[in-house]
Amino acid sequence: MNLTNVIAAIPDYPKPGVIFRDITPLLADGKVFQQVIDQFAERYRPLGVTKVVGIEARGFIFATALAYALGIGFVPLRKPGKLPRATLSQTYALEYGEDTLEIHVDDIQPGERVVIMDDLLATGGTVMAAIELLRRQQADIVECAFVITLNDLEGHSRLANAAIPYYTLCTF
Ligand code: PRP
Ligand code: HPA
Repeated sequence: MNLTNVIAAIPDYPKPGVIFRDITPLLADGKVFQQVIDQFAERYRPLGVTKVVGIEARGFIFATALAYALGIGFVPLRKPGKLPRATLSQTYALEYGEDTLEIHVDDIQPGERVVIMDDLLATGGTVMAAIELLRRQQADIVECAFVITLNDLEGHSRLANAAIPYYTLCTF
């Protein structure tokens, strides 16, 4: 699937030297958005996935659509303090500072087969925190799925080193 004409490249955003990959044109094109979700759904329909786990915020867009297409549940991983019931937390490093993801402890049962979804894989810090949360919940991680992978950053090799199956629709 060639998505290069529906992912905008924004130079020097959010800071000088960064080329920001913007998925909003993809989302605004109903046919392409449908093709993207259909491609993920075809991949995961035969694999006995029981939950799609989405990462706040842009991961929610793709994860909820995929969960709907598969007729299975969606579980949000949220930034701290947003989930109202008992949670597990995992802190991870950012380029400057750190951030935290949280999951409701009762949203995943041991042995569930999950796909972790986000819009984009960069350094992999976010997805590695998600993986740790799902491991702590004793989930079976079927695959981590992304629309975009930034090849110059180490996220894809961190997933390979951790032996986590990984799928991306496009790379830059
Ligand atoms: C972006 C993106 C991924 C993460 C990838 O999210 O949506 O979640 O960064 O980066 P990493 O691989 O280096 O961890 P962001 O934190 O900007 O949040 P948002 O989705 O709420 O905009
Ligand atoms: N686009 C969107 N989100 C991001 C990017 C990007 O290029 N890099 C890190 N998070």
